[in-house]
Amino acid sequence: MVYSLSTLPSTFSRLNLFPKTFKALNLQRFHKQHRLRPLNYPLLHFPSSATRFSTSRSPLSSKPFDDDLVVLGIETSCDDTAAAIVRGNGEILSQVVSSQADLLARYGGVAPKMAEEAHSQVIDQVVQDTLDKAGLTEKELSAVAVTIGPGLSLCLRVGVQKARRVAGNFNLPIIGVHHMEAHALVARLIEKELQFPFLALLISGGHNLLVLAHDLGHYTQLGTTIDDAIGEAFDKTAKWLGLDMRKSGGPAVEQLAREGDAESVRFSIPMKQHKDCNFSYAGLKTQVKMAIASRNIDAKVPLLCASSQDRSSRADIAASFQRVAVLHLEERCGRAVEWALKIEPSIKQLVVSGGVASNQYVRARLDQVVKKYSLQLVCPPPNLCTDNGVMVAWTGIENFRVGRYDPPPPANDPEDFMYDLRPRWPLGEEYAEGRSEARSLRRARVHPSLTSLVQASLQQQ
Ligand code: KG4
Ligand code: ZN
Repeated sequence: MVYSLSTLPSTFSRLNLFPKTFKALNLQRFHKQHRLRPLNYPLLHFPSSATRFSTSRSPLSSKPFDDDLVVLGIETSCDDTAAAIVRGNGEILSQVVSSQADLLARYGGVAPKMAEEAHSQVIDQVVQDTLDKAGLTEKELSAVAVTIGPGLSLCLRVGVQKARRVAGNFNLPIIGVHHMEAHALVARLIEKELQFPFLALLISGGHNLLVLAHDLGHYTQLGTTIDDAIGEAFDKTAKWLGLDMRKSGGPAVEQLAREGDAESVRFSIPMKQHKDCNFSYAGLKTQVKMAIASRNIDAKVPLLCASSQDRSSRADIAASFQRVAVLHLEERCGRAVEWALKIEPSIKQLVVSGGVASNQYVRARLDQVVKKYSLQLVCPPPNLCTDNGVMVAWTGIENFRVGRYDPPPPANDPEDFMYDLRPRWPLGEEYAEGRSEARSLRRARVHPSLTSLVQASLQQQ
């Protein structure tokens, strides 16, 4: 046995808090065992904190040794059970997503207990299909990456348990991944020229984040939502308009909006008086609900059965909602670009990722915003914007390269094992000058941010 299991952490540290000698010895053995070429492999040198950051600042390259790295990524933070296998050079060997479409359609949202059950039912099959599609067995993997937060605890646990079983049984290191970092970093798999620092707008069902990505694991939060995220507003609008939720609400609203007049319903843009980069969608949701009620739209009547007048009135609401929801993004992004250029004048790109970034109207409008500042818009393809295993595997690769991973867990966790799950886990520290008065102070049970943990571990070295 290469590793002394008694020295393993009970949780994912993500931060390599082991004594350097332990790490160096065991990792050298580990890299040999996994046929990584030690001389080419930067992690074996355990560089100082300064060089660590500078290595990840360099542009991504497909150096030959990167091809040796093959990482399985597992994602179960919300309603999609996803897995993928990605090579160090960015090649996607396979990916599988099992969505809880029927549950979503039936309940119009994610019910944690049912989502957990659905994940548990399919996780083994999803991972097996991912291996089969790649034509690999677990023995050929270099590491396992898994989302540990933020997300629903019950759901995260299913993925983490599976990841630890695979890693434990096949003696693989394990990387705990931040879901929102993964949404941002998958853009670097797609756009090989994308270097740190860059600005990212991450828009999903649970998050609205504007972050300045200084480096791997180092983010400044310029803005976040003070209540609901934009994806939640799309989902509720779809539900109240009686749309087919099987592919989640966003795509249904986007499609119907194409038929509508986006100027016909006067919704007001949220937070106009707050000159910051935070978001709010709760008020817009209420405005939509009232517009629907005043037009006597009955969500129980499916769109297909609606009269043409009813259909056009639903389309007008969808289009008007989408226009205003995106105007709010445009206004915040313009300001965030200005702030970001003051902090990091070298930024050249705005990354837009997360489920809502698959919306074509969102992309087109944000493209206009970045053009004003001569920046480039980088959006991953739609299937990499919504939750997926590729982003987790890729973020695992990026972190693994700089030594941020844990050694293999034991083959079997004890019954009462406390998993390190981080349901509320900020990505970065808040930008002090951008703090909003309207910002919610709900900070209970928030895990220290990824950035603060990385910075603390670097200082210890
Ligand atoms: O990132 P994601 O897959 O899961 C979370 O981390 O939440 O994002 C899901 C969200 C859902 O709210 C869904 O309605 C929204 O992304 N979404 C869209 C579109 N596709 C997915 N919203 C607007 N337009 C779309 N085409
Ligand atoms: Zn997501």
